[in-house]
Amino acid sequence: MTDTELLHYITTRDPDEAEALFAEARKVRERYYGNAVYFRGLIEFTNYCKNDCFYCGIRASNKNVGRYRLSVEQILQCCTLGNILGYKTFVLQGGEDPFFTDERIVEIVTAIRREYPNHAITLSIGEKERKSYEMFFEAGANRYLLRHETADNAHYAAMHPASMSLAHRKQCLFTLKEIGYQVGAGFMVGTPFQTPETLLEDLRFLEELKPAMVGIGPFIPAAGTPFGEEAQGSLEQTLRMVALSRILLPKALIPATTALGTISSQGRERGLMAGANVVMPNLSPKAVRKHYSLYDNKICTGDEAAECRLCMEGRIRSFGFIPDMRRGDAAV
Ligand code: 5AD
Ligand code: FES
Repeated sequence: MTDTELLHYITTRDPDEAEALFAEARKVRERYYGNAVYFRGLIEFTNYCKNDCFYCGIRASNKNVGRYRLSVEQILQCCTLGNILGYKTFVLQGGEDPFFTDERIVEIVTAIRREYPNHAITLSIGEKERKSYEMFFEAGANRYLLRHETADNAHYAAMHPASMSLAHRKQCLFTLKEIGYQVGAGFMVGTPFQTPETLLEDLRFLEELKPAMVGIGPFIPAAGTPFGEEAQGSLEQTLRMVALSRILLPKALIPATTALGTISSQGRERGLMAGANVVMPNLSPKAVRKHYSLYDNKICTGDEAAECRLCMEGRIRSFGFIPDMRRGDAAV
């Protein structure tokens, strides 16, 4: 698609055009993945973070967050429960927490790998040095999620403190790919200072990186952050960005994100209808879930993990999709 065409679909307010775009995205998704929707068990193991991203609820300066860390034992318990529930992928996500040194991450990945030789282990723990990424990979990690957040330098600088840079983040993504990880990039829709042109850059960056996974969700203001009073991203535009990403990267694994489900009661299901093919129910212990507050009013923070899977399954089937508990690596 040309820039003009992409910009048109990024901005269109015509519901018929949007529906045609979603139908095309579904067709592309079906080609490689049919109606399967893959399940990933998400373990939010620390909400400490040394960074201060302007949008994020768990940024270091937010003093109103009850901070927690899971112990290695607690993380392994989440995996045990997840395995019983049928999950074949564990996603370990956390803030950039200096307590979790490379050695501690290696210890955790090694322990999970020992018990689950055939599961996929996904890390989502931010920007690290090549050496660290290599150590985690050797210990058994297979996938890595690191949203680029925006592919535009000025926009990136407007959302992050000067200590962070888009160039380094992009470098991390290419390094992860070189090492052999299946890599996930992605961005929020509706962040302050975002424009149709920066969203176009996001799509062009995805085409350049060719990630195995793409995470897209609406921006949702988080209390106690610099962007806490800003408007949330639009459901419709987020869905169009999911659809465009699917069309540009037919084989990508694209989650219907929790943020989508948070701004609309059927947001995740509509994400699937716009070309997404993954859901990531929460496996974190119930007691800590409400503290992993990247944004306000996050859903599924009060239920047991088992209920989460059953609830998602029912919702998915009612939209004509087939829950798939296999590992679900990216199509080749
Ligand atoms: N609204 C929506 N998504 C957010 N994230 C962080 N803060 C917010 C927010 N306020 C997303 C970022 C990050 C992912 C883990 O959560 O894109 O990469
Ligand atoms: Fe968590 Fe429905 S997905 S309760």
